Amino acid sequence: MARLLYLECSPHAGRSAGAQMLRPILDEFEAKGVRVTTRILSGPTLEPISTHYARAITSPGQPNDNAFAGSEQLIGELEHSDGVLINTPMHNFTVPAALKLWIDYVLRIGRTFVSTPDGKVGLLQDKPVLVLVRSGGACTGDDARQPDFLTPYLRHVLHTIGIGSVQFNYLAGREPPDHMWADARRNVYSFLNLLSSNGASA
Ligand SMILES: Cc1cc2nc3c(=O)[nH]c(=O)nc-3n(C[C@H](O)[C@H](O)[C@H](O)COP(=O)(O)O)c2cc1C
Repeated sequence: MARLLYLECSPHAGRSAGAQMLRPILDEFEAKGVRVTTRILSGPTLEPISTHYARAITSPGQPNDNAFAGSEQLIGELEHSDGVLINTPMHNFTVPAALKLWIDYVLRIGRTFVSTPDGKVGLLQDKPVLVLVRSGGACTGDDARQPDFLTPYLRHVLHTIGIGSVQFNYLAGREPPDHMWADARRNVYSFLNLLSSNGASA
């Protein structure tokens, strides 16, 4: 059985346009046997990074520190998934604060990556990730009038922990045209079809 981790990063949570497009598709795949873990990142779900956590993460040799309980939960959700679907808005040219907080709990030296003389090396197993990006204006292509720090940043973050199979789908504009929604829906279907067929053959 395939396991999907779905990260919802919009402050509108389940009411965001992306989430409303995704929900019936996720329900359909759940009915077919895909196990979906939904993690809503907006709102008071994650504590801001505390002094305790910041001290623990930068102190070598304390892997079982209780400061890591929340971090372990999020890393466990990632480890126990076969694929990840991220629905996120662009906020000020990059990821929203809610997703940044998730990143700060999931990128942990000695746990999800190690530092070597040649740079950081990821410790998690690679898995496919699809990122749906909603933005008020175009952020890629010839029409973009703003920089896109979200794509290279999130790609780098995931690569740091060992996840290199990342695809992005952009839904730009206050009301993205129908063809953009159709493309997004098609990408989600092919992503989930592949995930569930991999899960069935595993
Ligand atoms: C705090 C904040 C910052 C934003 N920054 C950008 C931005 O840098 N570029 C952009 O194109 N849209 C920006 N937007 C617009 C959102 O990306 C856009 O409204 C998007 O559709 C929201 O998606 P959601 O409904 O899934 O949250 C910003 C919105 C907010 C609330």
